[in-house]
Amino acid sequence: MSAILEVKTAVEGFRLWPGVLDASAQADLVDAVFTRLEAAPLYRPQTPGGRPFSVRMSNFGPLGWVSDRGGYRYQATHPETGRAWPDIPPVLLDLWEATVGGPRRPDACLVNLYREGAKMGLHQDKDEADLGAPVLSVSLGDAAMFRIGAAEGGRTTTLRLDSGDVCALTGPARLARHGIDRVLEGSSRLIPGGGRLNLTLRAAGVSLR
Ligand code: SIN
Ligand code: FE2
Repeated sequence: MSAILEVKTAVEGFRLWPGVLDASAQADLVDAVFTRLEAAPLYRPQTPGGRPFSVRMSNFGPLGWVSDRGGYRYQATHPETGRAWPDIPPVLLDLWEATVGGPRRPDACLVNLYREGAKMGLHQDKDEADLGAPVLSVSLGDAAMFRIGAAEGGRTTTLRLDSGDVCALTGPARLARHGIDRVLEGSSRLIPGGGRLNLTLRAAGVSLR
């Protein structure tokens, strides 16, 4: 891990630590992710309205975020294999402590793989039991244009997230609208098969530590 230096952004409560993971930490994390994806394969979820997501997803940790005709929710098992999700890579738990810390610990890590023009529309993360706990996001592989705006609506800001960057939705930005407009395909060679990997840590359940 490199030094954890936070940079100022235009959105209060949105915290950004560029280049926290150096090249070797990124490669180790990609290995840890792909090893776990053998047990919990990436799949393409559907929106509650029945449209396929353009990203492919999986989860690590006691709880995983899923979406299907039944709605958005957290559950303890993979929707296709029926098996428990693999554990959260320990380095991600260390990153949580080193950046957002606090009384809650993450119990869910969403894995998003962006390939072939995949993107993510503006949305809020609000399926968690305690919306006071932050959301921490790690970017690996191709760079992406990330859009963020206040929960209430209005102007949005776009910024580039590069491989190794870590960011968080905290405090007044916890319910910020955010999404991925575009991935800069081929900007990195980190991910086997190409693309962008995003790992999002959340405290999804109700248990306090
Ligand atoms: C998300 O909001 O679930 C993903 C954001 C990202 O890919 O950076
Ligand atoms: Fe999100």
